[in-house]
Amino acid sequence: MKLALIGGTGFYAADFLGSVQIVEVETRYGSVQLSSGRRGEVTVYFLSRHGKGHRLPPHQVNYRANIAALKRLEVQGIFATNAVGSLKAEFKPGSLVLIDQFLDFTKNRPSTFFQGEDLPVVHTDMSHPYCPYLRQSIFTQGQAMGMPVHDHGTYVCTEGPRFESAAEITMFQTLGGGVVGMTGLPEVALAREAGICYAGVSLVTNFGAGISPEPLTHEEVVEMMQKNGERCLTLLLATIEQLPNAWSCGCEKRPEADQIG
Ligand code: HPA
Repeated sequence: MKLALIGGTGFYAADFLGSVQIVEVETRYGSVQLSSGRRGEVTVYFLSRHGKGHRLPPHQVNYRANIAALKRLEVQGIFATNAVGSLKAEFKPGSLVLIDQFLDFTKNRPSTFFQGEDLPVVHTDMSHPYCPYLRQSIFTQGQAMGMPVHDHGTYVCTEGPRFESAAEITMFQTLGGGVVGMTGLPEVALAREAGICYAGVSLVTNFGAGISPEPLTHEEVVEMMQKNGERCLTLLLATIEQLPNAWSCGCEKRPEADQIG
């Protein structure tokens, strides 16, 4: 079985996989460098979303190349981490939230593989964008390890790279958002188009702008990720080790997905 970890802020290396190989995949959207390692019987690819040293801001990540590369590598499931701000009192800084819905407020990102040209017109179902089986597996593993994990939440994705205004945070709360970040979209939607199961693991680094009286800084986000990232990784690797070779989850896998990659 082949799985992938997409690491957000705070996850840049693949040291946790032991000895790794660097893999370069050429896609029609650009080339992607990943690390490949093993956990037991599973091949795990690690992809650093922001690149080494956090070079790529959220709006410039090549989401299509990343997901197309994972499709080419025949990955069955993706575990993606995101640093997020909290919109709810119960999602305290340091907590992990397993995302099950999104609200997309991005503005300027290529957001589909199916944009005409040589690929067909496809409207992919997005009712349940995140794989329920992978989400439940992480939750169950979290409970077994005594690690508190919130089992659902709505991810609001902004364009960034600026943080939100206090009024935007209030609007997102009113709309039912649970956490806010800048990198969850279009990644999950592209994974759905490609027919790859996707789990979104949000690590809360701060309360949303205006909820706490202090201004937000990128440094506080990075510091919080460094404190809690390891815990998140331990949970995901333990989950990966427990997964069966195949699962049924209802994530739609349309035949057109095979044209991606
Ligand atoms: N807003 C947007 N993105 C973020 C935040 C936030 O408060 N915290 C970490 N990533």
